Amino acid sequence: MKSMLIVLLLALGVVECVQDHWFVKNQVTDESCIIIDSDATGSIKINGKDVPFVFANETTAGSGCHESYQAHLANKLVLDFYPQEMDETEAAKWSMSLIFVKTDENNSRLANWNLTTHNIDGTNFTVESNFTREGDASDAVKSSILEGYRCSSLELHFQNDTTVTFNNISAVAFGTINGTVLPADMKYQLCPKDTPSKTSAVVPIVVGCFLGGLVCAVLIAYMIGRYRARSQGYASV
Ligand SMILES: *[C@@H]1O[C@H](CO)[C@@H](O)[C@H](O)[C@H]1NC(C)=O
Ligand SMILES: *[C@@H]1O[C@H](CO)[C@@H](O)[C@H](O)[C@H]1NC(C)=O
Ligand SMILES: *[C@@H]1O[C@H](CO)[C@@H](O)[C@H](O)[C@H]1NC(C)=O
Ligand SMILES: *[C@@H]1O[C@H](CO)[C@@H](O)[C@H](O)[C@H]1NC(C)=O
Ligand SMILES: *[C@@H]1O[C@H](CO)[C@@H](O)[C@H](O)[C@H]1NC(C)=O
Ligand SMILES: *[C@@H]1O[C@H](CO)[C@@H](O)[C@H](O)[C@H]1NC(C)=O
Ligand SMILES: *[C@@H]1O[C@H](CO)[C@@H](O)[C@H](O)[C@H]1NC(C)=O
Ligand SMILES: *[C@@H]1O[C@H](CO)[C@@H](O)[C@H](O)[C@H]1NC(C)=O
Repeated sequence: MKSMLIVLLLALGVVECVQDHWFVKNQVTDESCIIIDSDATGSIKINGKDVPFVFANETTAGSGCHESYQAHLANKLVLDFYPQEMDETEAAKWSMSLIFVKTDENNSRLANWNLTTHNIDGTNFTVESNFTREGDASDAVKSSILEGYRCSSLELHFQNDTTVTFNNISAVAFGTINGTVLPADMKYQLCPKDTPSKTSAVVPIVVGCFLGGLVCAVLIAYMIGRYRARSQGYASV
């Protein structure tokens, strides 16, 4: 009975998944401006090998709702974390910054990101570096500030083949959310990758027309065939 319970709990745990939940609160209004739910992982090249890392023991620090970035109003999330689950340690945490800017009255986008790593004795994480952003987000996180942003998989690239992948991300920046969780009735803009594109609708239409045409052609051929058969005096059985 007890073991059944444990199995059940384990199963529930798997269903719940390792979702990361990060938020930044406006100290003045006590509302959240940034909320991110995702299953985030990273990968960093160490001695020529891709070494995966996770966001363990993370804390949000030094972040704010009224920052500025290149003369834009910015929301900033600074996440301190260890790259793997580990016991109490004196090692310095790694740090990832995400900066969202307001591009106009109603729109925001992810404008910059960086990652600072530290050597952690007794692990394979021996890099001491500041990685700046490389390229744009493959699916630049753009959205109306009145809605959230949602994507099945968003990859952020940093220098030296370092990446952070946000799977199944739901995010809000410049929000004025009462509480620290994404409201159930929140509306989301899907990233381009997840948006059913117009061109993809063309294919079924073309195929449909082709099939329809084929049916018509066969019918007509059949009628002509019957007509000819009759007019040539063959008995129709
Ligand atoms: C990380 O968190 C786990 C459980 O939450 C805790 O047991 C562990 O001591 C923490 N590690 C560090 C280095 O804080
Ligand atoms: C921003 O959104 C509000 C509310 O939907 C709308 O009234 C306003 O015109 C929008 N502003 C711009 C610049 O689109
Ligand atoms: C470091 O990586 C090697 C090979 O990838 C692995 O066997 C080893 O357990 C790792 N060490 C630690 C402390 O994680
Ligand atoms: C990373 O940047 C911080 C400050 O921005 C600096 O103190 C530190 O020395 C840098 N580390 C490396 C390895 O360049
Ligand atoms: C990373 O970005 C944050 C926010 O702009 C900045 O404060 C920090 O100095 C940057 N770190 C490095 C190492 O460039
Ligand atoms: C990237 O790799 C090169 C070559 O290994 C190294 O010189 C450089 O410092 C690395 N950059 C960072 C930000 O770690
Ligand atoms: C994606 O996230 C949403 C909400 O955060 C959750 O309801 C859903 O189960 C997740 N889907 C997967 C495949 O993890
Ligand atoms: C925020 O939520 C709390 C608890 O749900 C509620 O008591 C409070 O009135 C809400 N505040 C606003 C401004 O809606």
